[in-house]
Amino acid sequence: MSLTNLRPLTGEGKKIFIETYGCQMNFGDSEIVVSIMQKEGYFYTEHIEEADIILINTCSVRDNAEQRIWGRLNEMRRLRRKKPSLRVGVIGCMAERLKEELLNSDCGVDIVAGPDTYRDLPKLCREAESGGKGINTLLSTDETYADIAPVRLDKNGVSGFISIMRGCNNFCAYCVVPYTRGRERSRSHETIVSEARTLFENGYREVTLLGQNVNSYADGEVNFPKLLAKVADISPLLRVRFATSHPKDLSDELIATMAHYPNICKAVHLPAQSGSNAMLEKMNRKYTREWYLERMNAIKRAMPECAITTDLISGFCGETLEDHEATLSLMREVGYASAFMFKYSERPDTFSARHFADDVAEEEKTRRLTEVIALQNELSLENNRRDVGKTFEVLIEGRSKRSDKQLCGRTSQNKMVVFDSIEGYGAGDYIEVEITDCSSATLFGKAKN
Ligand code: 5AD
Ligand code: SF4
Repeated sequence: MSLTNLRPLTGEGKKIFIETYGCQMNFGDSEIVVSIMQKEGYFYTEHIEEADIILINTCSVRDNAEQRIWGRLNEMRRLRRKKPSLRVGVIGCMAERLKEELLNSDCGVDIVAGPDTYRDLPKLCREAESGGKGINTLLSTDETYADIAPVRLDKNGVSGFISIMRGCNNFCAYCVVPYTRGRERSRSHETIVSEARTLFENGYREVTLLGQNVNSYADGEVNFPKLLAKVADISPLLRVRFATSHPKDLSDELIATMAHYPNICKAVHLPAQSGSNAMLEKMNRKYTREWYLERMNAIKRAMPECAITTDLISGFCGETLEDHEATLSLMREVGYASAFMFKYSERPDTFSARHFADDVAEEEKTRRLTEVIALQNELSLENNRRDVGKTFEVLIEGRSKRSDKQLCGRTSQNKMVVFDSIEGYGAGDYIEVEITDCSSATLFGKAKN
């Protein structure tokens, strides 16, 4: 694997700028795109006004994500007026969902490329450069970009993401992902371990293995727990995280592997979506509230210190006040460390759009979501207060945003800790920090050395 890919190449020649929205998978994909474009002689730029090609890597998961991107495309028209040779491309989930609709809009889109077509991007860009339009939205059953070393665009140099699988076979009723990212497929374990090792050898101290449903990773004999163990074996100094897990596939083997390795982080992101069995069934989540709680208890039995986080949707089709209360009670029962919380957003052509009425009024969705967020803030604060007085090993990521004299980093539980700098410690170092105070989002502490 080429080490030069740890930094983008800069130089004189055609320049691409890439803007990324949506999930971590998308950020990982943008790094693959830059790698592919560099091989074809394009250079990367961080400055949009220098770009010859602007690519927008998009998300379709909720309507507001798409609206934001339409807004951005409108703004690009101004840049085009200043620089008529500029070409604009939409890639990712929205490209896959809307296809020609983007090219035919009056926003001036020249290139449309779905998530499985990035190897074709240099050709599509050349077509656009010579005055045509470049489009490819074919989905693949086997593309994993396994052989492409992503160009690391995040600058901290401590924590990196590695995509281990693509696509999704779960077909949750509300979700557009199986349509925009196609069927599930796993990347070979050798390329994953080698990418993690390269990162470690270049100073990285944390990798997050990414997939829409990492628990269904399978490469021959190597299932997800085995892959996790292989990555954890690279070095005890390399922390390993993963996202996202589907509760239905969270196996005892995975829990045992996590408990066994001190360097596998004690944090599980386990999206519940709802606490009501009626909603879970309608969402096609394939587990019940009781099953979910049993899995959560299995995690807590094996790793009492493990943090559990989640995703929740308010106002799904037919959600009653009782269903909503069930979500609130599930939240209290689990005591989530943090959560991503959303209003249900109907996505065209998904199962729920085709079969159920989006019948919770917008104001009511907002009201329920506000309640969910308020409760989560309380739970996060309670959860953090329990950490005050304890000492955690923190992996330093760099200076704190607020002050030059403070450092920040994360605990194994993925909680951000801010503390006064001490001589000789910086990004990539581990340090013991005693927690002295907290807010609902951050722990504050004092380093022990
Ligand atoms: N509306 C609202 N939230 C959604 N999510 C996925 N699809 C939708 C939708 N149609 C949320 C889920 C998922 C997270 C990535 O986004 O909570 O876990
Ligand atoms: Fe958005 Fe889902 Fe696509 Fe990620 S996979 S970019 S969350 S629609």
